[in-house]
Amino acid sequence: MDLAVQSDADLTDLNTFRVAARAQRLLRITDARQLRAVVDHPELGRLPKLVLGGGSNLLLTRDPQGLVLKIEIAGMRVLADDAQGMLIEAGAGVAWHDLVCWSLRQGLPGLENLALIPGSVGAAPVQNIGAYGMELVEVFDSLDLIDLTTGRFATLDRAACRFGYRDSVFKHALAGKSVITQVRLRLPRPWRARLGYAELQRHLERSGVGEPDAGQVFDAVCAIRRAKLPDPQRLGNAGSFFKNPVVNRTIRNEILEEFPEIVSYPLDDGTYKLAAAWMIEACGCKGRSQGAAAVDSRHALVLVNHGGASGSEVLRLAETVRAAVRERFGIELEYEPVVV
Ligand code: EPU
Repeated sequence: MDLAVQSDADLTDLNTFRVAARAQRLLRITDARQLRAVVDHPELGRLPKLVLGGGSNLLLTRDPQGLVLKIEIAGMRVLADDAQGMLIEAGAGVAWHDLVCWSLRQGLPGLENLALIPGSVGAAPVQNIGAYGMELVEVFDSLDLIDLTTGRFATLDRAACRFGYRDSVFKHALAGKSVITQVRLRLPRPWRARLGYAELQRHLERSGVGEPDAGQVFDAVCAIRRAKLPDPQRLGNAGSFFKNPVVNRTIRNEILEEFPEIVSYPLDDGTYKLAAAWMIEACGCKGRSQGAAAVDSRHALVLVNHGGASGSEVLRLAETVRAAVRERFGIELEYEPVVV
């Protein structure tokens, strides 16, 4: 098995924040069997490893030690099409948005609300990507992975992945311990438009669309995202840098008393999600910059690199924002990307 390891590789183009960092060793993985060969390799097997997908949920504050595995496993196919729906499978290295577009072209609707989310298919389950009224967990079937310690391949179903809001077992018990190689999704039949997200519904109404088809939902999601989120191709960023904090009713009511305009959403379990972007903006942090790092001027949840910011500089800004929100609201914001 060919293991063409690159030494001292530049990672600037492999992370969407576009911060400078170098990998001592980098290996591009196009076939899951290479991963097995890495685990079995007398030298590579023992090195610490960092798994890179699209690099869109990552902040590099230093040069990663050991071996960086850049996952480029390709392929998309329909596995089954029956009364329960369509079962599709994609390689972990496929760009998520390419899978959304491919499935729609195949006449397989169901992923349109998740259009334009940066990153790879293999990274999608790690943080249970979500947007515009939908989360990956709702269409997730199963995934294949390799255990980086034992070299064993395994399949995990939905329950085993322990999905939560921007959360999964891959951020906890399995963090850094495995590599996802294939992901399977089940797109239910009959298809129904998911229009629960108020902004999406408003956008479609304004466009005069009554009962949208999947293509129209896709177009609306793309238009909304393009209007309010910076494009990582043009401006370094990793999407939302902070998670929306979830609090119990008592805390939410206390905050609401002091800040009646705060945006919050009730969740099924009686807790509330507070809009972190609103709190950051209320602290006066929106648009604020520290060196070349800044809080985006259009969406306060997003930190951006205006060019040449280091990962540590971005992290310092994140800490400033976190301290401002803590001071004003008594809430501790959590970071969404993995910080290395
Ligand atoms: N808001 C502000 N200031 C801002 C931006 C937003 O006050 O600068 C307010 C809005 O007016 C709105 C509320 O905050 O009332 C929520 O904003 P938005 O609809 O943009 O959603 P969000 O909760 O900030 C989440 C996801 C996004 C996803 C959108 C749409 C998280 C951490 N982020 O953002 O996901 O696109 O909902 O579903 O849950 C990502 O994870 O990288 C990401 C971009």
